[in-house]
Amino acid sequence: MDFVPYLIHPARWEELPPRWEEVFLRRAPLAVEIGFGNGEFLAEMAQRHPDWNWVGFETSLTCIVKAGRKLRLGGVGNVRLALLDGKFGLRELFPDGSVTRVFVNFPCPWPKARHAERRLVDGAFAQALAAVLEEGGEFQLVTDALWYAEEAAQHLGGAGLAVAGPSPLSDGPGTRYERKWRARGLTIWRVLARKVRPGTVPRIAEGGMPHAKVPAEFRPERLQQLAGVKETWEGGAVVLKEVFFAAQGETALIRAFATDQDFLQQFFLIVAKTPEGLIVQLDGATVPFRTPAVKRAVALVAERLRP
Ligand SMILES: C[S@@+](CC[C@H](N)C(=O)[O-])C[C@H]1O[C@@H](n2cnc3c(N)ncnc32)[C@H](O)[C@@H]1O
Repeated sequence: MDFVPYLIHPARWEELPPRWEEVFLRRAPLAVEIGFGNGEFLAEMAQRHPDWNWVGFETSLTCIVKAGRKLRLGGVGNVRLALLDGKFGLRELFPDGSVTRVFVNFPCPWPKARHAERRLVDGAFAQALAAVLEEGGEFQLVTDALWYAEEAAQHLGGAGLAVAGPSPLSDGPGTRYERKWRARGLTIWRVLARKVRPGTVPRIAEGGMPHAKVPAEFRPERLQQLAGVKETWEGGAVVLKEVFFAAQGETALIRAFATDQDFLQQFFLIVAKTPEGLIVQLDGATVPFRTPAVKRAVALVAERLRP
């Protein structure tokens, strides 16, 4: 449970981007690591820069647990961890010009062409970086895959950042993956990108909670027909997967998936009877980021239930 004091839940926040000085209880330069693995680099850097606030993104809960242990053991107080796709988090959680440093060490390279859209450092990531970095702020990518470093350098340059590298790195971040690849005799590469002009990027997440009122009766057979409903559009999709009913009372839960570009969320919608009819809203146990696709899911259920 060491990770508990470090873990943040940005999807539950009412205001995005958040006021980070309220999250950290102090105002300080912001630094970010995406894909921190077991957290050794993050813990060390946070201790080396106690005057910065550090935010780490990971998609693996196991990594959050391991990093939490390191942070607790080191008595580190200036780090927060989010179980979240760092590409989404970087764009949605930081205002333009607010981040001093961003680090990515040994991202999963996804070498097969058919998996290319899973690569972290792509054009959209570079655009987000070019927005959130402060002027003079820097991004550092370290990888064993030269082709990945070259591709990343192209994207970063394309977004208007001043790029140096890839160049071989003799003294790297000292992570598990660096040890692993050096033991195999591989060269480690670094790309640096510095922000040299202002930039911005469109954001899609909002703090407010969508809901819809429907002047209709609670009819289980009508609700059951929502299972399997799918809607897709350019850049997004909603799928309503299953419908569950409470043992007592007139309440239903709908398991839903919502996709915005490459950001997928799974959550539950609740449909409940009220004196005026039905209310459709997000279930409090699985609150997603309120993106266009999530808002569409609420509206879609309401439309389908309308008499
Ligand atoms: C190859 S490991 C490298 C771990 C660590 N940085 C190191 O050097 O040892 C890549 C890490 O990135 C995480 N990851 C992959 N995609 C991610 C994303 N979109 N956002 C945040 N973390 C991600 C994985 O869970 C994994 O822990």
